[in-house]
Amino acid sequence: MSDIAYVNGAFTPLEDAKISILDRGFLFADGVYEVAAIIDGKLIDNEAHVARLERSLNALRLESPVSMGEIIEIEKALVARNGIREGLVYLQITRGAAERDFSFPEGVKATLIGFAQKKNILASPYAEKGIKVVTAPDLRWARRDIKSIALLAQVLAKQAATEAGCQEAWMVDADGFVTEGSSSTAFIVTKAGAIVTRPNSNAILPGCTRRSVLALAEQRALTFEERPFAVTEAYDAAEAFLTSASNLVLPIVEIDGHALGDGVPGPYARELRALYLDFARAL
Ligand code: PDD
Repeated sequence: MSDIAYVNGAFTPLEDAKISILDRGFLFADGVYEVAAIIDGKLIDNEAHVARLERSLNALRLESPVSMGEIIEIEKALVARNGIREGLVYLQITRGAAERDFSFPEGVKATLIGFAQKKNILASPYAEKGIKVVTAPDLRWARRDIKSIALLAQVLAKQAATEAGCQEAWMVDADGFVTEGSSSTAFIVTKAGAIVTRPNSNAILPGCTRRSVLALAEQRALTFEERPFAVTEAYDAAEAFLTSASNLVLPIVEIDGHALGDGVPGPYARELRALYLDFARAL
């Protein structure tokens, strides 16, 4: 079965899914996106993803061509038509195709595209052995809370990680504090057993997985602190982990060559991954 994509109202084989070269997403990165996990054929934490999509659209005064309810139907159709039990669904809305001009075009309908992909997110080998992280300067703009399709800084950070033999990059502001991963939220666990992650602000994307993981930690009466942490504090942490729709919760065992704890996934990361999987499968 060939992959089925969605483009502006129609489901079509991926090889036929095309948009104009004048699309403002292509020319200006004038658009937003969302990624949600699929487990057991179901969308995970999707209410939060759709709410964030709406928030991103509002922040950019971008009008969706369909309602948020229809967005969910399109996502479900992509999952079903592609027969996906485990993987990801991707949706993107841009300000449409118009003659190239920086200001908003008048009377132009937004472009909506979507596709789905299979991915082993439950049985990830990295869940067992943990991942390695490098740090990189955070080169992004001042509205990182918007899930914009302008991802060049994240591409460069992730490429630096790949070239260093690592699986993720943690981006660091000029003040030495970690903002977040190139496509994930960053957490450390202090030697005193506190889970630390940066509070939501314009400096980071408000992660949907982050939100659920913190709620689960709270239910279990685990100690957590929402505060910025410096790279130097992370080197000295007992554990670290990341959260994202594409990887759920993944333990981190090394940052810039500094092994954390015993150099193997720590108990907090393991427990939070297990708790999140239980929560997701019960949805
Ligand atoms: N990225 N921070 C950034 C910069 C991200 O791009 C992402 C997700 C997250 C985690 O958010 P969530 O838990 O809602 O997925 C944090 C997605 C997976 C991506 O771009 O592929």
